[in-house]
Amino acid sequence: MPRRLNPKTSSPQHLLNWDQKATLLEIIIINGPNLNLLGKRETDIYGEDTFEDTLLHLRGLFSEVSLHYFQSNHEGAIIDKLHEIGFSYDGIILNAGAYTHTSIAIADAIAAIEAPVIEVHISNVYKRETFRQHSYLSANCEGVIVGFGLRGYELAIQYFL
Ligand code: DQA
Repeated sequence: MPRRLNPKTSSPQHLLNWDQKATLLEIIIINGPNLNLLGKRETDIYGEDTFEDTLLHLRGLFSEVSLHYFQSNHEGAIIDKLHEIGFSYDGIILNAGAYTHTSIAIADAIAAIEAPVIEVHISNVYKRETFRQHSYLSANCEGVIVGFGLRGYELAIQYFL
């Protein structure tokens, strides 16, 4: 079900404020545990690019977006960040890593906030171990993008435009 602040259903004027100055969409990418090691970690699965390079690439592609980034290996820190920005940002792109498959607390945080959340996974979790094939988060997300590598983050941003 569409949630508040969905740019797709908001006015076509959403890029203009009362002053007729362009305003940027506030979007954040939140990466969970072990995703700080992208480029070094299991490169056969996750590729050789670092997330810092990906972020630079994405910021170059989307000049209409103020693209924020947060990574944490700690479940509570991810929940705190969702609470902090979840009532003001236009969109959240969340790769919760392994917490996807374990965290009812992150699922509850997604349900509690108002900003729409897109769940992203770099790898195709459905081709992998069965424990990766269940997500506690998906039912509370606007949509899920799985298996397109780091390009999944780009596809998620496009959804919010
Ligand atoms: C992942 C998939 C998860 O199962 C895994 O624990 C990760 C990364 C992905 O992006 O493919 O850390 O979320």
